[in-house]
Amino acid sequence: MGVVHILQTQSQMIAARAGRPIQLVAVSARDRGKDRGADLSAYDWEDSTSMLAAHNDIDLLVEVMGGEGGAALEAVETALGQGRHVVTANKALMARHGTALARHAEQHHVALRFEAGVAGGIPIVKALTEGMAANRMTRILGVLNGTCNYILTEMERTGGAYADILAEAQRLGYAEADPTFDVGGFDAAQKLALLTATAFSTQVDYGGIAVEGIDRVTLTDIRYAGEMGYRIKLLGIAHRTDAGVEQRMQPCLVPSDSALGQLDSVSNMVVLEGDPIGRTVYQGPGAGAGATASAVVADIIDIARGLVIPAFGVPASTLGKPVRAEGAVPAPYYLRLSVADRPGTLARVADALGRAGISIDRMRQTQHVEAMAPVLIVTHACLRSDLDTALADIEALDVSAGAPVAYRIEPL
Ligand SMILES: NC(=O)c1ccc[n+]([C@@H]2O[C@H](COP(=O)([O-])OP(=O)(O)OC[C@H]3O[C@@H](n4cnc5c(N)ncnc54)[C@H](OP(=O)(O)O)[C@@H]3O)[C@@H](O)[C@H]2O)c1
Repeated sequence: MGVVHILQTQSQMIAARAGRPIQLVAVSARDRGKDRGADLSAYDWEDSTSMLAAHNDIDLLVEVMGGEGGAALEAVETALGQGRHVVTANKALMARHGTALARHAEQHHVALRFEAGVAGGIPIVKALTEGMAANRMTRILGVLNGTCNYILTEMERTGGAYADILAEAQRLGYAEADPTFDVGGFDAAQKLALLTATAFSTQVDYGGIAVEGIDRVTLTDIRYAGEMGYRIKLLGIAHRTDAGVEQRMQPCLVPSDSALGQLDSVSNMVVLEGDPIGRTVYQGPGAGAGATASAVVADIIDIARGLVIPAFGVPASTLGKPVRAEGAVPAPYYLRLSVADRPGTLARVADALGRAGISIDRMRQTQHVEAMAPVLIVTHACLRSDLDTALADIEALDVSAGAPVAYRIEPL
């Protein structure tokens, strides 16, 4: 209803900016009788969204129903096939069918826009396709899920455990009853897939993202990371190297004094790095009716102005096949080991790391818990595959009490 509200209350401003009036003609949803907090009586009601998409009097369809296929896909395909522009907030649909839908739109000479599907109200697709169009992008970093950022921020602030803060987020309406899609990293990964395609002119490759959520992040690591000058964020990273594009969605450490490290609560942030500009940073609300409607209506205004550019910034037929380069980019790591407090233990740990070619930047032993001593290590940059070899060796040591914890430290 956010979109209807803006179109109803800001019609003059929008007409001035678009260069012509924008008229809402028809609407559809599942339940016609539902109170939506807006008067829809002036518009045609269509019983199905494909009928809405085929409505004779429309130039543009706004799809905000959600779902990676089904009615949403049918409505969008119908609209594009009949030469109507489409604005969608549906990242699931675009992450799954974005490349094909972009082709479909171009074949019919219409626009397909999805700004609201990525980082809510932050105009990041527009930044990539327009403002940054002169740059060769190299890396994207994003906090793309407000629920996860809220949970991590609140764990740190209140000292609460993950499960308790998740329950609080559900009570406040920040997290769904089934939070898997958010806390598992999948929602943010869909957004990352769309950013990657747009930034690097490749076909959308959601399946190429290594996805890990925040459900195993503990207060212990949040605290230790903080003491060492870092904060833990669920970070989406797409990095272009000569080997291809590495896409990851995982909890990472970022410096506490960086822009990403200072991002609290439900906000989203995207950092773009490109040549020649260097680094640019974008922050704003990632969800909610106002943020979503802001992005949807901006897309509508662009189309009304006559701006019809390819969905991912270049013609869909020229989008490159994704070349996956998982694990290609070295990084420093934060390690937390639980080892017996015996002479020679640290030397054996250092030896296991050294045999894998990994050197230690910083090491700290914290207060003992019975006969065990938590050891914190920050490594110099290394490949994850080498680290995994070393961690397996460390876990197999007779002084080791359980699996080591490892988080990537994303350089900023
Ligand atoms: N919520 C956000 O902050 C946000 C931010 C960015 C993007 N998005 C995206 O926006 C989309 C919608 O999310 P939402 O949170 O607004 O969901 P929502 O509150 O459940 O709204 C979905 C709307 O679509 C209608 N709908 C669903 N399935 C339909 C069908 N088969 N036929 C006709 N109408 C159907 C629903 O109708 P009824 O009301 O009659 O059930 C409802 O009006 C999703 O793709 C989501 O990823 C949401």
